[in-house]
Amino acid sequence: MTHGAPPSFPHRHLLGIEGLTRPEIEGLLDRADAAVDISRQIEKKRVTLRGRTQINLFFEPSTRTQSSFELAGKRLGADVMNMSVASSSVKKGETLIDTAATLNAMRPDIIVVRHQSAGAVHLLARKVDCSVVNAGDGAHEHPTQALLDALTIRRNKGRIEGLQVAICGDVLHSRVARSNIISLQALGARVRVIGPSTLLPAGIERFGVEVFTNMREGLRDCDIVMMLRLQRERMNGSFVPSVKEYFRYYGLDGDKLALAKPDALVMHPGPMNRGVEIASDIADGAQSLIREQVEMGVAVRMAVLEALASHLPNE
Ligand code: CP
Repeated sequence: MTHGAPPSFPHRHLLGIEGLTRPEIEGLLDRADAAVDISRQIEKKRVTLRGRTQINLFFEPSTRTQSSFELAGKRLGADVMNMSVASSSVKKGETLIDTAATLNAMRPDIIVVRHQSAGAVHLLARKVDCSVVNAGDGAHEHPTQALLDALTIRRNKGRIEGLQVAICGDVLHSRVARSNIISLQALGARVRVIGPSTLLPAGIERFGVEVFTNMREGLRDCDIVMMLRLQRERMNGSFVPSVKEYFRYYGLDGDKLALAKPDALVMHPGPMNRGVEIASDIADGAQSLIREQVEMGVAVRMAVLEALASHLPNE
């Protein structure tokens, strides 16, 4: 898939951005750049994963991640199976370990897992013989989201080094924020987090980020404004007074965006709550990269699957 020899990826699994080196991250982004070219051709099919079996095991809902992993696997020639957890024996009380052992017995080559609990994907990776990709585990990590965000930024700004990135909103419940903080800092960006104190994790400063509770102050001179979804399904109490109040102080609208640099770009991992964390005209506006993020998602997942393929046994 890649043009020229890609740098080797030394890991059997992709469980998080944490633990990856800058050259490893940049190598995946370079592979993904090549995958964008493939995805824009009429003939998109490659043979990198021909004969391989990929299982997508999603314990939480997903539109973008699951469908892009499916497309990525198919474009690389894999047989892809989407496990429907809603109609599986998980609903009859089967444990994650038993589910993993059952799937492992079917000899898959790659399992892509999303789970509501932080650490569940690491546990599963210890119980199977194949490669495992973390497609989001609780509020812990979402590594392919961070990679697709980095790819989108690099292609639009020409660099990541030295950019000022603001990650705004519900940082507390966000695996996207955590993976992006690690990834963007590894690539040389300066990262701010902005949100109400109730939605910022205690001790977030230890990650080396600047912290703002006033969005208007935090957005000043930013190159990238990355909005996060208000994750009400993960909240077990009242973290914001009301959605209306939240939008007033932390929703991205034209007035607040005007405080960032004039060429600032707007991102959102999706799914979006329009009128809650982002105004519709900003989400669909000229500065928005949100649709392009989705396209980059397929390319990044092709890059990750290809990188892991080099570790699959050939005998
Ligand atoms: N960004 C993201 O993970 O979206 P999905 O939940 O639709 O996969």
